[in-house]
Amino acid sequence: MNMKSVFSETLQTENLILRKWNESDAKVLFSLACDADIARWAGWLPHVDENYSRAIIRTVLSSDGEYAIVHRNIGQPIGSIGIRIGESLNRGIERKDEAEIGYWIGKKYWNNGYATEALKEVIRFSFENIGLNAVWCGFFDGNEASKKVTLKCGLSFHHRNEHLFNAMRSEYYCESMMSIKAEEYFKK
Ligand SMILES: CC(C)(COP(=O)(O)OP(=O)(O)OC[C@H]1O[C@@H](n2cnc3c(N)ncnc32)[C@H](O)[C@@H]1OP(=O)(O)O)[C@@H](O)C(=O)NCCC(=O)NCCS
Repeated sequence: MNMKSVFSETLQTENLILRKWNESDAKVLFSLACDADIARWAGWLPHVDENYSRAIIRTVLSSDGEYAIVHRNIGQPIGSIGIRIGESLNRGIERKDEAEIGYWIGKKYWNNGYATEALKEVIRFSFENIGLNAVWCGFFDGNEASKKVTLKCGLSFHHRNEHLFNAMRSEYYCESMMSIKAEEYFKK
């Protein structure tokens, strides 16, 4: 399968459009990602200015599988979601046909169901379009909102990773790994 062409597709849900990040989103990205709470739970550092956000779009968010979550009525990004395919052996993801999905939503848009809506669509895409065998989401201890999102999307607890080191933030963390396998997804 040509992964480039799979990931060039725009995904659509009732309220959201998941599309590639553009450099012209830098200002909006900064306004959302400067928030220390989002950065803390997502495991990166708060964005410091629009130029930093532009650099993150060029270097990180331009990768295949990274999507801006655009709200149809707002017409601009309200968050981000990304699929990273492949093993992450120190975290218990051991097969090449499995993926981790990471996501965040700008604080002013929290608790409207948007993360759940976006994650459900990316899970559907992962199994129905890419043909993955399992998807994973990890959340740090105490991140009850993310735990709830994964449960609402049909994932269940698989294992914990303890004492991992986040080099960017220079801190240790513990996480719960949630997963859903293709066979469970297609049974529903
Ligand atoms: C986690 C996050 C993506 C959720 O986004 P969201 O759009 O608000 O999520 P949803 O509205 O779809 O669902 C949130 C659920 O968590 C619940 N919730 C929120 N805060 C909570 C808390 N402190 N304790 C328990 N439940 C909580 C909400 O009530 C909602 O559940 P409900 O629909 O049953 O009422 C958002 O909070 C965020 O970006 N956090 C920072 C980054 C992050 O944690 N990313 C995930 C890394 S694993």
